[in-house]
Formats: sequence, C-alpha cells, structure tokens
Amino acid sequence: MQPDTPHATFDGLDLRALAERLGTPLYVYSASAMRAQIASLQSALGGMNALICFAVKANPNRGVLSLMNAQGVGADIVSVGELRRALQAGIPAERIVFSGVGKTDAEMTEALDAGILRFNVESHDELVALQCAALERGVLARASVRINPDVDAFTPAKISTGKAENKFGVSIHEARRWFSARHELDHVELDGLHVHIGSQILELGPFREAFQRVAAFWKELTASGHPIASIDVGGGLGVCYREGHDQPVHAADYVAVVREALAGFEGQLLFEPGRYLVGEAGVLLTRVIRVKHGDERQFLVLDAAMNDLARPSLYDAWHDIVPVTGEVRPMTSYDIVGPVCETGDTFARARTLPACSSGDLLMIRTAGAYGASMASTYNSRPLAAEVLVDAGRYAVVRQRQRFEDMVAGETAAHHWETA
Ligand code: LLP
Repeated sequence: MQPDTPHATFDGLDLRALAERLGTPLYVYSASAMRAQIASLQSALGGMNALICFAVKANPNRGVLSLMNAQGVGADIVSVGELRRALQAGIPAERIVFSGVGKTDAEMTEALDAGILRFNVESHDELVALQCAALERGVLARASVRINPDVDAFTPAKISTGKAENKFGVSIHEARRWFSARHELDHVELDGLHVHIGSQILELGPFREAFQRVAAFWKELTASGHPIASIDVGGGLGVCYREGHDQPVHAADYVAVVREALAGFEGQLLFEPGRYLVGEAGVLLTRVIRVKHGDERQFLVLDAAMNDLARPSLYDAWHDIVPVTGEVRPMTSYDIVGPVCETGDTFARARTLPACSSGDLLMIRTAGAYGASMASTYNSRPLAAEVLVDAGRYAVVRQRQRFEDMVAGETAAHHWETA
C-alpha cells in the first residue's frame, strides 16, 4: 500500500488546485528550487573569476530566463531565437556566449550587433565566416575555439558530444593551427578555449579528463605566445531522474575538479549548465484520461504525450512518475503512455504506482530541462501551459496554446506563385 503522498504541494503551492485552475498537461517550475541550484553553484565558485551562462536550450521560457538574470546568471545561446529571448528577459549581451556548429552569417551579425561576450567557434569555416561578419560590421569578434577532447562521458549516445566521432568542436591538433594563424584574421580575437563533453553526466572522471586536456593546451598556448583570456568548461552536470538510482555529483565537487585542473588560470572561467539549474525544479502535471486493462498489461493513458515531453520516447529516458493524491491505494503495475498515435509515445513500462482511475492527477518529475523546450504540436496537440511557482504564489509564464495560434501562419487556400 502507498502511504499518504508528500507530493501535493510544490514550492508552497497546492498542485491539485493549480491543475484545477489551469488545466493539464501543465509544466510547473519552482523558482525557489532554481535559485537554490544557482546558489549552490555560485557559492562553490566563490572567489573565482567565473560567470555562469545558463544553457538556454534547456528551458528558454523568458520567465525562467528573467529569473536567471535576477540571480546574475548569463546565457549560452545556440540561435538568434535564443539570443532574442535572453535579451528580452533582460540578460545583458556581455553575459551571453554563442555556441553551436551551424551559426549562419545572419545570426553571427545579429549577435555582433548585440555585442555578445564571445563566440564558441566549432569549425575553421565558421572562424572565417565570423571574420567576414565582423569585418563588415567594423567590429572585433571575441572567440573561443571549441575543443573536442575525445573523452567518453558515458552518457546516452544521442547526447554525447565530446568524442572525436561527434560533430562538435575541433581537435587540439587543428586548434593549434588556428592559433598559429590567428593574426591573419584581424577582426577575430581568438583568445579562448571551450569544451563541452556531453549532458546528464553523473561522474567526475570524464570532466577531470577533459579539463586536464584543455589545461595542458592552455599552458602550451600561453608558452607559445598565445594568451588565453577565457576558458569555458561547458555544461553537462547530471540531475536525478530516478530517485534512489541516479546520484548527481555535487556542485562543490565539480568545481573542485575545475579548480584543480585549471589552477593558475587567471582569465575568466565560463560555465554553461542547463539541466543542473532547472531540471529537478520542474514537473509536468498530467491527468489520467483512461485506464485500459489489456490482456497482458494495464495501460494508463495520460493527457500528456511525447509531444509535451519527448525525452522518454527519444532517449528511453526514465522520469519518476508519482500520483498527486492523498489516498492510500494498492500498488499496481502500468505501462504509462500518452494519447499520440505512436507506440513510442510511452513514458514508462511496467511502472508500479498506486492504483489509478481516470481523472487522477500525476506528476512527471525532473521535467524542468529539455521538457517544454523540446515540445512540439505533433498530432495537433497545443503546447502545454507553463507556470513559475514561488513560495506559494504562481505566475503563468506561458499560456496554453490556443488552436488559433497553433494554425497561425498556415493557409488552407493555395496562393500559387513562381520563384
Ligand atoms: N553547452 C553546450 C555547448 C551544449 O551543447 C549543452 C547541451 C549545454 C551547454 C548544456 O548542457 P547541460 O548542462 O544541460 O547538460 N535534449 C537532451 C540534452 C541535449 C543537450 C544538448 N547540449 C536531453 O533531454 O537529455
């Protein structure tokens, strides 16, 4: 039997009342939990010349970004869409770094015009394009080279980034050539290193290995007359998706690894955490639409689906799912699925929960990162609403999408034209 659940309130707010008022599926984020994560990292960084740039892709909601800004956190962006969101949320350009393998000329120009802190450059082609964009604008672009350290972070293959076979960054060998020729590109100040080896990393070893490689390269560059003003250690800190199973590393232990590997570095250290700052601070509230008793399995069909939270279907990712009910009920095994017409629309298989009936409220935990940010309208399902909760109060930071907004921009009539 399941005891009275402790999950009825979230950051001081009654979740049942919230779901009643705003409907489901509903993303709920705890401002207090986000601030606590930021504070844990900031306090570990005490005394260092360091800036945290939140990886906007994890949760680009401007309500979340403005919370980041209020805590002195900057932004790591990968598109002009993210740039505009960050700026609109008040994050100053000098706290914004631009990563990503496919920045277009227009995107680089817009970021240069905004005056961002620096570009994390991922290929020689991009370096040359950045020089052209900066030359045209008559400005100097500050740049870091993203090093691919060829380290295995033991993350799922689809989110691994730091191995030689991945599309990200360049080898130290190639980066060395860039520095030797850096004076040929007079509108790019190439004086930084960047590394990001993957996501949802639950061990310190891969970080240590990567940072040590970067440190050796920084020392080599300095010795050969190429001063390094900035080292960006990327993101990747894992969080707990499965209670009693995932053991995230502590911010203090992670920062100790950075301090040790980069001891003696006097420039600015940049950190790009995404998931760590927001993952555990968010839940997806959803109701059971139907309990289906199959011949072999029992299914819970939720009103949330793979379009709302893609991680389980995309990566086979585990998310704890718990009832938001105070009742004591017998434990039952369910396959927990969404209503989308795909077998992959499955949140969990053979998961044991207190027996459910239609209308019951559940929460899918650790949904604050790569949840709403990866949502789509597949099956013409409108994007879920998002709410920020702060010590018993809530603010809707995204209205539930209306049908009219979902189809805005489409036309049923065919206005044929020629190119
Ligand atoms: N910096 C760079 C250059 C990145 O590519 C990423 C994430 C981050 C920072 C932030 O990583 P984090 O601290 O959040 O691990 N959709 C996947 C995760 C993809 C991560 C992509 N890059 C998921 O849901 O697990």
